[in-house]
Amino acid sequence: MRSRRLGKTDQIVSEVGFGAWAIGGSWGQTDDDESLAAMHAAVDAGITLFDTADVYGDGRSERLIARLLRERDEDIFVATKFGRRAPLDVAQYTYDNLRGWLERSRENLGVDTVDLVQLHCPPWETYYTPAVFDACDRLVDDGLVRAYGVSVSKVEEALKAIEYPNVATVQIIFNIFRQRPAELFFEQARMRDVGVIARVPLASGLLTGKFSRDSSFSSDDHRSFNRNGEQFDVGETFAGVDFERGVEVVEELKGLVPEGATLAQLALRWILGFEAVSTVIPGAKSPEQARANAAAAALPPLEDETLRTIGGLYRERIAPQVHHRW
Ligand SMILES: NC(=O)c1ccc[n+]([C@@H]2O[C@H](COP(=O)([O-])OP(=O)(O)OC[C@H]3O[C@@H](n4cnc5c(N)ncnc54)[C@H](OP(=O)(O)O)[C@@H]3O)[C@@H](O)[C@H]2O)c1
Repeated sequence: MRSRRLGKTDQIVSEVGFGAWAIGGSWGQTDDDESLAAMHAAVDAGITLFDTADVYGDGRSERLIARLLRERDEDIFVATKFGRRAPLDVAQYTYDNLRGWLERSRENLGVDTVDLVQLHCPPWETYYTPAVFDACDRLVDDGLVRAYGVSVSKVEEALKAIEYPNVATVQIIFNIFRQRPAELFFEQARMRDVGVIARVPLASGLLTGKFSRDSSFSSDDHRSFNRNGEQFDVGETFAGVDFERGVEVVEELKGLVPEGATLAQLALRWILGFEAVSTVIPGAKSPEQARANAAAAALPPLEDETLRTIGGLYRERIAPQVHHRW
């Protein structure tokens, strides 16, 4: 497993990490033993960064990571998030509230100092409220967390967030179906030494190629209940791409998969081709998925012709649905 520096946190982390939203069990079926086995398999494969949030399963994801930390000696970097335990309103982002949520994450994770906390897709006014970032600075000074960052919905939010000098990381959706961050944001992040965490890299599984037009999802899976943005930003489900269109384009991507690899691995390797990305965090629920995702780091860089075809498919078939939105 190759490693990269996570911006100004100055920490070295695996370039493929582990997204721990699904194992929180807030949507879909999960089994804690299987989830823990998936995380152990990830660590065995060299993964050292785990991304979670206080609201994933109301702390269940964090508590599973605490078990992993107890059971492994490896240096594991945990990034959590806060801000979603209250209604989405910037008035809620006071020092006292943020501190209370962070205290809870420390307890869930079983650590004195959290490695990284990210404002969890906060309301847009947050980016224009320096007091929120001052409060985060205080939490670092208090010794409760080593560094903080922001998980954003839109490129514009990312560009605004990194104007605050102590924002160490930005988490953003970046994948073959969501290419806009590479246009302007990545260069700005590099200039300011901001770590980039690429989330939803498989477009909620669409980019694994395992779905067809007829695939269905259980009613408690966000790929069913949020398919049209009914519960939260539609951009978080299938990266905001219409499912049928996504499946059509995936059929064309399948022809580009290098021998011995899978489409999911091609999708992850495509992301790792961008130097500004510090780590990519596919969500895995089983040891097999975790191992397969980690193995993407070992693939050679994609060929120029493959990159050109991916660029063309995005521009013609996908960009009209997403490029102007996020
Ligand atoms: N607002 C935020 O800050 C925010 C929002 C969303 C996500 N995130 C973070 O980003 C992480 C990743 O996002 P995500 O989990 O939504 O989407 P994702 O990584 O794009 O896709 C995850 C889905 O892909 C499938 N999958 C994963 N590895 C696979 C493999 N090797 N082979 C076949 N299928 C595979 C699984 O589908 P099945 O379940 O069908 O097996 C899994 O549920 C989250 O876990 C979380 O840490 C953050």
